[in-house]
Amino acid sequence: MRADGLKTLTHRLNGTLISLTVPGTRMAEQYPHYIEFRHVYKTFDYPVLVDANFYVDGGETVAIIGRSGVGKSVSLAHIMGFLKPDQGNVIVAHQDITGFREAELREIRKKVTMVFQSGALFDSLTVAENVLFSLELNDDYDKQNREDVVMGLLRLVGLENAAEQYPSDLSTGYKRAVAIARALAAQPECILYDEPTTMVDPIMSDHVARLMQRLKEQLHLTSVVVTHDLDLMRAVADKVVVLHEGGVIYFGAVSELANSDHPHIREFLAMDRTLLSSNG
Ligand SMILES: Nc1ncnc2c1ncn2[C@@H]1O[C@H](COP(=O)(O)OP(=O)(O)O)[C@@H](O)[C@H]1O
Ligand SMILES: [Mg+2]
Repeated sequence: MRADGLKTLTHRLNGTLISLTVPGTRMAEQYPHYIEFRHVYKTFDYPVLVDANFYVDGGETVAIIGRSGVGKSVSLAHIMGFLKPDQGNVIVAHQDITGFREAELREIRKKVTMVFQSGALFDSLTVAENVLFSLELNDDYDKQNREDVVMGLLRLVGLENAAEQYPSDLSTGYKRAVAIARALAAQPECILYDEPTTMVDPIMSDHVARLMQRLKEQLHLTSVVVTHDLDLMRAVADKVVVLHEGGVIYFGAVSELANSDHPHIREFLAMDRTLLSSNG
């Protein structure tokens, strides 16, 4: 009921002359957080998200963790506007996107982009051509600049020597880095990562973690990272959302997570320690 109340209020506010004349500042005042889930509900075969609440401030990295099937990717799909909540509101780039249509969502997706686990690279194009392809979708670069921008992006992700290679020549970790370079070509404000270190060996996982950290520091990118790699979470995230049986059972600083006395979180952290010691 509360979520419905919020929704009506939001639509009414959006309809006023004031919010239409100065959208940027008004929306930032109305929605102070860059991303926010307000009482989000989503049910498929079973309730996946039940009254989910959390937020991501500009320039912050927030991790979403939890068991497989708990709704981590579904949460990212709501941020991209691929899925709509059954109830509640999803704020992205300081705007309530809950009722947005495709044209409005396309504008949001210029600011917020997603690095898919597969990388979605073109196997018949070289690494440089893959990045160039994304650049060509963006009118902001003039032609002469493009080669420099491509090399700049590849340097940023530590792949300047792989420009002429094909994706099939690269390890999974390097493919993830190409996918990140490609996402950056769109000059986003925010990147969403879905399991960036899954299926990646430990050395390349460190490389991906350092890359994410660099993007945050140098480009002040806001990001959300779905992961069950707690080392990655500790390396890059400021805050963490723990999902369990439909609910957000923890939302707060990564540094405070170990102090939680929620039994599932204690179990999750204990399991991580067991895995760590068995991996050596
Ligand atoms: N488009 C969809 N249609 C139906 N069920 C879906 C859809 N997307 C996700 N689900 C279901 O929602 C649940 C959560 O999925 P997901 O967010 O992908 O889990 P994970 O936390 O492992 O990323 C799963 O049971 C999944 O089958
Ligand atoms: Mg997933």
